[in-house]
Amino acid sequence: MVPLLLSASEDAVLQIIACLGDGGIAAIPTETVYGLGADACNGAAIARLFEAKGRPRFNPLICHVADQAMAEGIAEFGPLAQKLGEAFWPGPLTMVLPAAGGSRVHPLVTAGLPSVAVRMPRGVALQIIAGLGRPVAAPSANRSGKVSPTTAAHVEQSLGGRVDLILDAGPAAVGIESTIVRPEDGRIVLLRAGGVTAAEIEAASGLAVMPPDLGAAIAAPGQLASHYAPEGSVRLGARNVEPGEWLVAFGPGTLPGWDTAAGVVNLSPAGDLREAAAQLFAALSALDRPDVHRIAVMPIPEHGLGAAINDRLRRAAAPRG
Ligand code: TXA
Ligand code: MG
Repeated sequence: MVPLLLSASEDAVLQIIACLGDGGIAAIPTETVYGLGADACNGAAIARLFEAKGRPRFNPLICHVADQAMAEGIAEFGPLAQKLGEAFWPGPLTMVLPAAGGSRVHPLVTAGLPSVAVRMPRGVALQIIAGLGRPVAAPSANRSGKVSPTTAAHVEQSLGGRVDLILDAGPAAVGIESTIVRPEDGRIVLLRAGGVTAAEIEAASGLAVMPPDLGAAIAAPGQLASHYAPEGSVRLGARNVEPGEWLVAFGPGTLPGWDTAAGVVNLSPAGDLREAAAQLFAALSALDRPDVHRIAVMPIPEHGLGAAINDRLRRAAAPRG
């Protein structure tokens, strides 16, 4: 099966809606990364989606909604969740909330948890969900453990032949997945750093953003240590380039050994973290080749979007399971 690659137009959006309505699976652009979408209420479609991704079944999926009414049909919103939704939706924030009674979301989506992860995305994804009239479950549109795709071509490389349709709307604007939080009484627990920074969430809510309690069960079950891994090894915080290494650079500076690097990809020559986030997965994916054995990565500052970038890089560098 060769998936049809459609470029974004009104007609293409209608085709995607029809595909999802028929229980199909389609790769759709969101502002963060491309998602592999299926009707969240259709168990057979969700099962196909897991199969296409090669994903361990215990990982629950994010439900994408088109408006607040749809969100409240699947999750319970307290005042804090309400406030965060008003501040950041549509946008790169996912909230883990108690599942609403009577929700039609299929239990495969939530992996049987009493909670559900909800996000209202920007752009054409929003139109698709509104047109379908039901939430769309969508993990990133890559094979499990691989880099999240930020272009349609990247989806095609990873999942071509396993999905019904791919909608191309150009490179994803944010380029890194959504921030996942769990709003609690008087605090916000950060489950995954992402496209909205902790500082932005603190400013909008007036509350502290905390890491999950140590020792608790894996808070966001998809957060396996090794993820985003290219074929070659990854060395972080590099202050020099060793012979034969490829370099992922950041900023205007150079390093000892730069001239003898096998190749250099600069995430942002200007040292801009927003640009670096948008380029990160394209860079990791370009280096995911059999002839790239060792990758060195220059230090990236930890502030702002740097927290999310460094989180993804640590996973790319983690020992492979
Ligand atoms: O930006 C994004 O979030 C993209 C786009 C497509 O929206 N999606 C994405 O989905 O990154 P995925 O499946 O690759 O990551 C979803 C994360 C996983 O780590 C999963 O464990 C967590 O969300 N998650 C989903 N439901 C959860 C729940 N009820 N409780 C805790 N974590 C949950
Ligand atoms: Mg993913």
